[in-house]
Amino acid sequence: MRMVDIIIKKRDGHALSKEEIHFFIKGYVDGSIPDYQVSALLMAILDHDMNMEEIVTLTDEMLHSGDVMDLSAIKGHKVDKHSTGGVGDKTSLVLGPLVASRGAKLAKMSGRGLGHTGGTLDKMESIPGMRISVSNEHFIRQVNEIGIAIVGQTGLLVPADKKLYALRDVTGTVESLPLIASSIMSKKLASGSDSILLDVKFGKGAFMKTLDDARKLARTMVSIGNNLGRDTRAILTDMDQPLGHAVGNALEVKEAIDTLKGHGPKDLVELCLEAGAIMLEQAGVYNNHDEAINALKESLENGDAFNKLKEMIEWQGGDVSYIEHPEKFPLAKHIVEVKADKAGYVRRIDALMIGESAMRLGAGRAKIEDTIDMSAGIVLNKKIGDKVKKDETLCYVHTNIDEFDDILKDIKEAFIVDENEVKVPPIIHEYIK
Ligand code: URA
Repeated sequence: MRMVDIIIKKRDGHALSKEEIHFFIKGYVDGSIPDYQVSALLMAILDHDMNMEEIVTLTDEMLHSGDVMDLSAIKGHKVDKHSTGGVGDKTSLVLGPLVASRGAKLAKMSGRGLGHTGGTLDKMESIPGMRISVSNEHFIRQVNEIGIAIVGQTGLLVPADKKLYALRDVTGTVESLPLIASSIMSKKLASGSDSILLDVKFGKGAFMKTLDDARKLARTMVSIGNNLGRDTRAILTDMDQPLGHAVGNALEVKEAIDTLKGHGPKDLVELCLEAGAIMLEQAGVYNNHDEAINALKESLENGDAFNKLKEMIEWQGGDVSYIEHPEKFPLAKHIVEVKADKAGYVRRIDALMIGESAMRLGAGRAKIEDTIDMSAGIVLNKKIGDKVKKDETLCYVHTNIDEFDDILKDIKEAFIVDENEVKVPPIIHEYIK
């Protein structure tokens, strides 16, 4: 088989066979096929797309290009969820303890933040002592004992994606739907859980800008997962405005704690209850959605979910006193209010602008080696649809940098206040299974 023939076949709009996809992934990972040939193939895929059979094969080949997590030593059904990334997305820190408190097993590998979106691992590291890297034995024992662990990736999962993603980034081929779907799903499937819930976000602060694009991606990923033997479902959720109120690492952990104590913002609570109920159904703990929702509400009310977070933090070396007394998290040197110029209703809060501003305040990294200021970020005082008076606080800006007038200006511009009443957008737009 010759790589040039595979390129020509896709260039001419034909579907690739299993053998051809195997040849290209194996050859790329072992170094026998050079970047320039793979670049040409990626561009042909971007141009001519792939059918479902090709996408499933591609994902399967990528998934088996490196280590695959074996979670069989964990008793019971292992659930996982994946968010395509957003601003203020602290869902895993709430949803994980919630579903674990009701008997599902969550053996989760999370990522770090890059650019305007945050990552769960960074948020967890704002808790002193918290370890996000534990041995495999510890990981398995922890999930068996308490039902939950959230850690960084161990082993060399999906080396094909590492190479392909880097190449796509510099060849203008990131946007191809089959390449995005196989990239995300190969990593999720390699982390070994029995079922997967995908939270595909769309809007200003998301990777997918429109509901249509999010739906296409979600449907493709759900098909891949189900074709490869995992119960995979998806929800399409709003990311036009940040999720909840807090954006920034320690600030988001505090909001997650509040939420687990039953005082969370409406959108975050609704998302976690709905997603949690689906995951409990996937795990076979409940067959009825409403029953699952009621059980999760009870876990929020009776402290079970909050206690589950504390257990996880304790098992991973974190200082639980910060969870019991969140006022212990250090505050930034400057906490500044951004006020409304006029009275009305909040029509828009640009999630991308808020995410980028939080990053510039110190809450995120532009490059992988940048360090994060855990106390920095933005706390919204108003969300879309809220009524505001003139000079009322729209949000609080937390930072340790001393010159931030230009950032304040952008944050103010992220809010649009209108005289007309505004309908509050739903957090979940669609369910796909
Ligand atoms: N996230 C991924 O992991 N891969 C993509 O291609 C896009 C987003």
